[in-house]
Amino acid sequence: MQYGDWVLLQDRRGRNYLFRLEPSARFDSHRGSIPHERILEAGLGGAVSTPQGERFTVHRPTLEDYLLQMPREATPTYPKDAATMAFLLDLAPGMWVLEAGSGSGGLTLYLARAVGPAGQVWSYETRPKHQARAQRNLSAFEDWGNVTWLGADLAQAPLPPEAFDGVALDLMEPWTVLPAVTPALKLDRFLVCYLPNLTQVIVLLEQIKDQRLPYLLERTLEVLHREWDVRPPIAHPKFQQVGHTAFLVQLRRVRD
Ligand SMILES: C[S@@+](CC[C@H](N)C(=O)[O-])C[C@H]1O[C@@H](n2cnc3c(N)ncnc32)[C@H](O)[C@@H]1O
Repeated sequence: MQYGDWVLLQDRRGRNYLFRLEPSARFDSHRGSIPHERILEAGLGGAVSTPQGERFTVHRPTLEDYLLQMPREATPTYPKDAATMAFLLDLAPGMWVLEAGSGSGGLTLYLARAVGPAGQVWSYETRPKHQARAQRNLSAFEDWGNVTWLGADLAQAPLPPEAFDGVALDLMEPWTVLPAVTPALKLDRFLVCYLPNLTQVIVLLEQIKDQRLPYLLERTLEVLHREWDVRPPIAHPKFQQVGHTAFLVQLRRVRD
C-alpha cells in the first residue's frame, strides 16, 4: 500500500469508509480521527484505532465496494448483476465486448476486468456528461487501457462485422440498437440486456420476433442474493436486503 491507493476502513458493525491515502491527511470518525500515515503503517489486513478507542480494520476495496460508493451520473448496474452479465456473456481474457450506455462506468469496470489487458471494451454513450463520469470512475480505480470510449448513439454506430465476442446493453430501449449491433456480434456468442421492468423484457422479445432478428432466447433471470445474519445463537436472514434490481436477458446469435 502507498499514498494514492484506495483504502477501505471497516468498523465493528461492518460499516465501510472508502477513501484515498494522502500524506498529512486524517480520517475523521464520530469518535476521533486517525492520520493516514498510521493506516499506511498498519497495512492491509491490519487495524487502527482512534484515541477514543474506535477500531477499524484496513482493507483494499473490492470492485463491488468501489462501484457502490463511486460518484454517479446515471444509476450503475448493480454489482451482482454486472458480475452475472460477464458470466452470461462467457467472457474470458483477450475477448472483445461491446457495451452501451457507459452511464457511470460500473458495468464497464466489470467488463474491462473480465476481458483483461489483452481484451477490448467498446463503450458507447450518447450523453457526454455520463461518459466523462464513466471515464473518470474507471481511470480512478483500475485502468488497463483496454476501454475505447465512443460518444455516440449505438443505434447509428458503424461497427466492424463479427468483431465482438459479446454485447452488454444497459439502456432503456435496447431493441432500438439491435439492427446495428447484430452483424457486429460473432455467431453463437451472446448479447445480454439489463432491464429493470418486465414490460421491457416483453417488448424486447416481441421486437426480436417482429424484426426477425437471429437470436435464440437462452434465459431470462433475476439475480437474488439473500444475505443472512449469522452470529450464533442468532441466525436469520438479514432484515434489510437488496430488493429487485433488474431482469437479465441472455440471447445467443444464430445464423439468419
Ligand atoms: C442506466 S445507464 C447505464 C449505467 C451503466 N451500465 C453503469 O453501470 O454505470 C444508461 C445509459 O445509456 C445511455 N444511452 C441510452 N440510449 C443509448 C444509445 N442508443 N446509445 C448509447 N448510449 C445510450 C444513457 O444516456 C445512459 O447514460
